[in-house]
Amino acid sequence: MTRDTRQAAAVIDTSRPSVARVYDYFLGGKDNYEVDRQVFLQVDAVAPQMKLLARAGRNWLVRATRFLAGTAGIDQFLDLGAGLPAAENTHQAAQRMNSEARVVYVDNDPVVAAHGRALLEENDRTHLVMADLTKPDEIFDHPEITRRVDFTRPVALIHSSTIHHVSDEEGPLEIMRRYVELMPSGSYLLLSHFTDPQDGGAGTELARSVEDIFANGAMGSGYFRTRDQIQRYFDGLEMVEPGLVQLNEWWPDGPLLTRTTADSVALGGVARKP
Ligand SMILES: C[S@@+](CC[C@H](N)C(=O)[O-])C[C@H]1O[C@@H](n2cnc3c(N)ncnc32)[C@H](O)[C@@H]1O
Repeated sequence: MTRDTRQAAAVIDTSRPSVARVYDYFLGGKDNYEVDRQVFLQVDAVAPQMKLLARAGRNWLVRATRFLAGTAGIDQFLDLGAGLPAAENTHQAAQRMNSEARVVYVDNDPVVAAHGRALLEENDRTHLVMADLTKPDEIFDHPEITRRVDFTRPVALIHSSTIHHVSDEEGPLEIMRRYVELMPSGSYLLLSHFTDPQDGGAGTELARSVEDIFANGAMGSGYFRTRDQIQRYFDGLEMVEPGLVQLNEWWPDGPLLTRTTADSVALGGVARKP
């Protein structure tokens, strides 16, 4: 166990659920505790289809990363709110397309530091940094990040399922505006977010019941915002086709033939800074 690992392990709080660990359990991972599994069980009781959404989110992240490392020619990735390692992670997807691609993961959860480091730092072009993604200026100034990411060149900024854990009081729109300002020209933003489809029916009902468990329960965050609110996080950027869509509809793999209500409660998109 390294010094970093011991320090991180010392502050893991197993009395309250953590977003990273709950999400890990949704994806079938093992780095979670009873308190995290209770959140999953509460959601699963009212919305068993949410498991599929978690998987759709990871699959989308991998597809979009391949597009960025391949077609878009991006060779440096800053993956904010990286989470615990899953079957396929950003560095594997990016480095399969370009073995020289560099990936810096950022998270603030001690379990990610303790259990994720070994897997998320598989090679010398992949690093994990503990930092707060709600502070864009600190991220762009962080010595461990600036040593590995050259912010004078285009970078892919990944915000996969992160901003829906930032409350309105923390100012998610201002945070995203600042990220967009700081991104060098030619950079890409990849962002996915829970949404309330405002369909007055099954989608809205699902969004509101899961939001109630996440945001108003022990986990304390998980906000289902409207399409317009999410689209504004991309202000100033050019959307890559097909724009902001349900995750399974994001090009190039095309829509799934079988749909679930959960498909309607998350949106994702990729956009370029001119
Ligand atoms: C739902 S998980 C998403 C994981 C991964 N990005 C994905 O799409 O599979 C959200 C992650 O964001 C991290 N996170 C939440 N708030 C954060 C903050 N203020 N700073 C850094 N990481 C944060 C959590 O610890 C968690 O690992």
